[in-house]
Amino acid sequence: PSAPLARAESLILEIPDYPSPGILFRDITPLLADGDALRATVDALLAPFAGTFDVVAGLEARGFLLASAAAYASGTGLMPIRKSGKLPRPAAAMAYALEYGTAEIEAHADFPAGTRVLVIDDVLATGGTLAAARELLTGLGYAIAGTAVLFEIDGLGGREALGDPALHTVFSS
Ligand code: PRP
Ligand code: MG
Repeated sequence: PSAPLARAESLILEIPDYPSPGILFRDITPLLADGDALRATVDALLAPFAGTFDVVAGLEARGFLLASAAAYASGTGLMPIRKSGKLPRPAAAMAYALEYGTAEIEAHADFPAGTRVLVIDDVLATGGTLAAARELLTGLGYAIAGTAVLFEIDGLGGREALGDPALHTVFSS
């Protein structure tokens, strides 16, 4: 990898037993704090997908941090996929299980059928979040252009659960 990307990887901290015992949390805030690392990371997320998508979808909350920058960098719009109860208009919903806890995500149906969506999140663990996002988006009639994730945690079956041939991850454990 490039020097900025290598430093970006070194800026991801491992926090044991957060937010609950047995969870090794990846803290990307030092990476976000570094301008060169952030730019290299967003560029690396987008690299395989140039020209293949119409909009970037980001997963609340940490996916927002990368998806907004990716949309700006690629000149597309942004689709926030929110945790339930946050959107002001009627929205499609999908429930899922997390590595810790359960949740539900929602999105407005604001794009035409067939819109090509690049889905971005910070971490792939069990894959529950991104699998739910894909189901939500395809249910709305959109086409998944790909899934881009900053950090893939190996050994939790996330890649298999997602079953996305266009899954792209920048770093992995
Ligand atoms: C975290 C992380 C991913 C998801 C990965 O989100 O940001 O979105 O878990 O786990 P999975 O692959 O097992 O689904 P979380 O909802 O915990 O927190 P956030 O709102 O800070 O993004
Ligand atoms: Mg998240």
